[in-house]
Amino acid sequence: MRIGILTGGGDCPGLNAVIRAAVVKGQRAGHEFVGFNDGWRGPLENCFRELTPRDVDGILVEGGTILGTSRTNPLSQDDGIERAQAGLRDAGCDALIAIGGEDTLGVATSLYQAGTPVVGVPKTIDNDLSGTDFTFGFDTAVHIATDAIDRLRTTAQSHHRAMVVEVMGRHAGWIALHSGMASGAAEVLIPERPYDIDAVCAHVEQRFAAGHAPIVVVSEGAVAAGGDVTSIGQKTDAFGHVQLGGAGELVAGQIQERSGRQTRMVVLGHLQRGGTPTAFDRWLATRFGLHALDAVTGADFGTMVALRGTDIVRVSLAQATGELKLVDAEQFAEAQALFG
Ligand code: F6P
Repeated sequence: MRIGILTGGGDCPGLNAVIRAAVVKGQRAGHEFVGFNDGWRGPLENCFRELTPRDVDGILVEGGTILGTSRTNPLSQDDGIERAQAGLRDAGCDALIAIGGEDTLGVATSLYQAGTPVVGVPKTIDNDLSGTDFTFGFDTAVHIATDAIDRLRTTAQSHHRAMVVEVMGRHAGWIALHSGMASGAAEVLIPERPYDIDAVCAHVEQRFAAGHAPIVVVSEGAVAAGGDVTSIGQKTDAFGHVQLGGAGELVAGQIQERSGRQTRMVVLGHLQRGGTPTAFDRWLATRFGLHALDAVTGADFGTMVALRGTDIVRVSLAQATGELKLVDAEQFAEAQALFG
């Protein structure tokens, strides 16, 4: 078979590990590979190249994606799906492995429904794709955020300050929840649960009273009760998302104003998406690549490979992209027991 591969949406550590695993295993079984540039832009604009084991040599440990990525959305363009299908045909592809999050795999779902043989691989540092216990990239992001919080704690402690750390997480607070729990944060604010600033300030005071510098971890998509998400302008990307920004600043300003405590704020931003993947993400991404190839060669299209416990399973793309996987009340309550 001649198999196309693309990576779409925000990049994350582990993309290259997926590509490597699929290409090396596939080539040993006699398959050929085509790498499309910059997500869906590749098939739409006929930007592709042959991918051989030599091209993927040594990339297992590299962050980012050798194919490039973009937020190009065929669904927002006239005849976008037909043009993407034509691009795949022009490249001679018998099937496509699409590696992405809800947006990229949403397009993959539409392509499959229009007759294209597609298999999906779930990636996103946000970990908000349904059908899989974890997406790759998430573990690396949590490690980076936790390490940053550990460092911020020592300086906050020396200066008797509160520290607010804004992490990524547009719709889901998984990074905030996991890194906040791993670092013993005084408070974690997530998009799923609008916050009450008085309760946040009370937790901050409680932590000071116990002799510690309080750390407040804020998802970029966190909102105050009755408030709106904070964004940088109103311009949206091709998938209709505004650029988020300002959630941490808002919380830090209010803590300082209400409590009179010196409060500093750090936005971790794209640091969370950069650099080499953790061993867990290399392991997960490699297994996803191997199993995605098996799904393609077994003609099990319209599926996404997924992690369930320690097994890799297949779920339908439509199911995986139907709704986001959010932090539920029970999981949040577990963490909340240690706030303050
Ligand atoms: O990939 C998802 C994500 O990490 C979101 O948490 C964040 O809002 C977004 O990417 C930012 O991406 P970019 O700045 O690359 O558009």
